[in-house]
Parts: sequence; structure tokens; C-alpha cells
Amino acid sequence: MSNVSSLAGLTYHVKTFGCQMNLHDSERVSGLLGSCGCLEVATPDEADIVVFMTCCVREKADTHLYGQVSAMVSAPEPPHGRRVVCIGGCIAQRDGSGIREHMRNVDVVFGTRAIASLPDLIVDALNGSKKNVFADTSEDDPGFSSDLPSRREDVWHAWVPIMTGCNNFCSYCIVPYVRGRERDRAFESIVDEVRTLHEDGVREVCLLGQNVNSFGRQRYGSPRFAELLRAVGETGIERIRFTSSHPKDLSDETIAAMAETPAVMPQLHLAVQSGSTRVLKAMNRHYTREDYLALADRIKQANPGIALSTDIIVGFPGETEEDFEQTLSLVREVGFSSAFTFIYSKRPGTPAAKIDDPTPREVIQERFDRLAALVADLAHEANQVELGHTVEALVEGPSKRDADILVGHSPKNKTVHFEIPEGYKAQDLVGKLVDVRVEEARTWYLRGPMVGDPR
Ligand code: SAM
Ligand code: SF4
Ligand code: F3S
Repeated sequence: MSNVSSLAGLTYHVKTFGCQMNLHDSERVSGLLGSCGCLEVATPDEADIVVFMTCCVREKADTHLYGQVSAMVSAPEPPHGRRVVCIGGCIAQRDGSGIREHMRNVDVVFGTRAIASLPDLIVDALNGSKKNVFADTSEDDPGFSSDLPSRREDVWHAWVPIMTGCNNFCSYCIVPYVRGRERDRAFESIVDEVRTLHEDGVREVCLLGQNVNSFGRQRYGSPRFAELLRAVGETGIERIRFTSSHPKDLSDETIAAMAETPAVMPQLHLAVQSGSTRVLKAMNRHYTREDYLALADRIKQANPGIALSTDIIVGFPGETEEDFEQTLSLVREVGFSSAFTFIYSKRPGTPAAKIDDPTPREVIQERFDRLAALVADLAHEANQVELGHTVEALVEGPSKRDADILVGHSPKNKTVHFEIPEGYKAQDLVGKLVDVRVEEARTWYLRGPMVGDPR
């Protein structure tokens, strides 16, 4: 064991790429370094320790990192004279020590299940040859990052991981290779954490996992997500969200639990990926277009007014114009209130990477643009329903463009803007629930005055 107390007083900065898993892991990294006496700073330039939490789900995220890490070589000298550059997250897990072949200024590489060893690795890097430091990235590392100290980004919101890894092996996706197989957190530990968070003043939790609907299968032999939702609902927490849900595992019990647990927000992110059964099969998704449409109907029937959002990949190898039109028609039929759309990105090591695709890039881009336009139209349409109504927003902070405007999210996860009313300062309202009367319904936000008192 290294003497981590020697890290006290050093400054650190964590830069996060990728999904909520990484955001949450970054909170654990901050918590760990904070517990060693390190001080967080706003930029990498001011930091003795710089941690990059990396993502490799698409090529863009991958290439972006190299530029940023290389830039550290010419960054100003850090406060204590020696900078330690650490790479964690999914690229670290994928490339291991090979990372140093491309990024020679990297001192520490730690895998997705080796967060707990980071302080020791930093001490080793400061003491010895920086090239010899390498984290244990083994699959069996029992460290569940939730058991580590955490430093939450916001006091009113918390990510709560309920499982790690993924067993689905969608044919395009790198995640199962870099996050390992599904591992569930203990049921009681999740509920206890949410109860404590509620007592500490947290208003909203988001339960996290790559496939939350299969929660329980690995640890208890059968899924327990519906039961978990109900138990979390009984802690008194005001808002519950969860992500991600795989359509093949979203059970009727879960749909009922959502409808019957008042704190579960009327919003569901349910990645469809494609509207063509042929493509879904090639993607190894284990549901058809018809299955997805029937599921969406059951969800809407049990939860009237629910806002459904989704992920869609355009240009999966071999996708034809007809397949793509099936995606457009499914998107219209479900009426998603928002969608994340991605152009397929070949990920070496995944089965889809072996499929040749003659489709020209311009054709895929043109499809992507058509889909993006449809998604925007539907988002605009969905927002019109709110015009003239009052929506509750959990206030997050000032808008980046205008400090007099505060931003929050509605139960349906719509962005809500409102002007700071007279007599209030931003800090009086951040983390509070407020009512906003919607006078403007744009494609990506709702806007109006705050009415009544904040809660
Ligand atoms: N587990 C989640 C699920 O199945 O809903 C999603 C995990 S992934 C981090 C987020 C999204 O990235 C996926 O839903 C998919 O749309 C997209 N994605 C994953 N691999 C991709 C690839 N190779 N190219 C383009 N998009 C990809
Ligand atoms: Fe990737 Fe599929 Fe797992 Fe989601 S369910 S993380 S898309 S393999
Ligand atoms: Fe990226 Fe890893 Fe998440 S590859 S999307 S950070 S699980």
C-alpha cells in the first residue's frame, strides 16, 4: 500500500467524456482524491493531477481524447512542479498500457473496475518511473465504485448505479467489452443509498445501468427492477428516473411499477436503434419492429401522457433506403418527444465491424439529416402540448447564455427556462422545485414566468 497521505494539498481536475456511467465514476474519482486531501481546480492547467475519464463508444470520442491529452505536454507547469496525467474509463480498459504508445505523457492507466486503486497509482507515479505504473483492469476486480467516497456534482441530484456491465452484445457496441458482464449491486444497498440521499436533501435520483431492466438476474437469479422501483419510491425521494432500458427486458411488472409509483417521472428512454426488423436482427437486439411498437403502446396505456425518448443508429452496415424508411415511420408512429441520433461508427472487435458496407457516406449523412429533421418536428410538436399549462421544474442553474435565466427540467424531462423573478437570487432557487407557466414552447425548451413559491 502506498502512502496516499502524501497527496494532500495537490490540486486535481477530472475531465469526463461519454455516458452517465463515466459521469458517476468521475464523481467517485473526485471523492477519492478529495478524501486524500487533494483540492479540485477548474482547469487542467492548474492541476497537479489530471484525470481523463474516457469513452470509446464512437470513433469521435476516441480521437477527441488524443488531442486533449497531448495538449497537456505544453500546458503551464502545475503548482507543485510535476503533473501526473491519468487515463481512466473505457479507452483505458480497452487499450491498457498500450495507451502510452500513442500518448507518451500518460503516467497512470486505470480500468473501469480499478477506480479504487487510483490514489496508490498516483503516489507510485510521483515516486518512481512513470512508465511502470499500470492498473489492474481485470474483470474480477470486486470494487463496485458506489462503495467508494463520492463528490457529487450537484447537491439536489444524484446518479445511483444499480448495476455495471452489459450482457447483450449488440453487434455494433463496444460497451460489453470495456465494462464487462452484468453485475448487480445489492438491493438493500441501493435503497439505503437513496434513503440517505433523500435525508441529505437530494430531490432527484437517476438509477443507472446499461440495462436496468435486467437488474437482479445476476445477483438474485431473476429480475427485480419493478420491485426496486417501488422500494426506491417508498424512501420519500421526490423524483426518480432511470436509464438505460433495453426493450427486450422491459416487463409488464416494471410498466405497472412505473405507473403506480408517484415519484417515477412520466418519462422513459427506450433505445430502439432501428425501425427495421431485418436491421434489428443484424444488430442482435432480440426484438422486432412490431414488438417495440406493441411495447410502446402498453407503456402509453399504463402511463398516459408519458414522454418517450430513444437512441437511433443511422447507417448500420447494409441498411437500405427501405430499412431507413421503416425507422422514420416507427419514429412517427411512436411520436418520440426526443431522440439521440448517431451515425454508425465502426468499433474494431465488435461483430458488426466485420460487415462490409458499400453505402456511400453522403447517403448515410443525408438519411441522418432527414431523421434529425423529423426528430426536431416531433419535439416541437410534443412541446406545444405544454403551452398555457404550468410545469414543475427542478432548477439546475443559470443558462450558459444569459445569467438572468434559470434552467431546469420538467417531469417529462423537458428543458424549462424562466427569468429569475424579482426578489430572488439564482442561489435561492437552484435545487428547488418551482412552477413555470409555459408561454413559449420551442423545439428544445419551454419558457415562461415562475408562478407561486419555490419548494
Ligand atoms: N445500453 C444502452 C441501451 O442499450 O440503451 C445504451 C448504451 S450506448 C452507451 C448509447 C448509445 O450509443 C446506444 O444506444 C447506441 O445508439 C449508440 N451506439 C453504441 N454503439 C455505437 C456505434 N458503434 N455507432 C454508433 N452509435 C453507437
Ligand atoms: Fe451496448 Fe447493447 Fe449493451 Fe446497450 S444493451 S450497452 S447498446 S451492448
Ligand atoms: Fe462511452 Fe464507456 Fe459509456 S464507451 S458511452 S463511457 S460505457
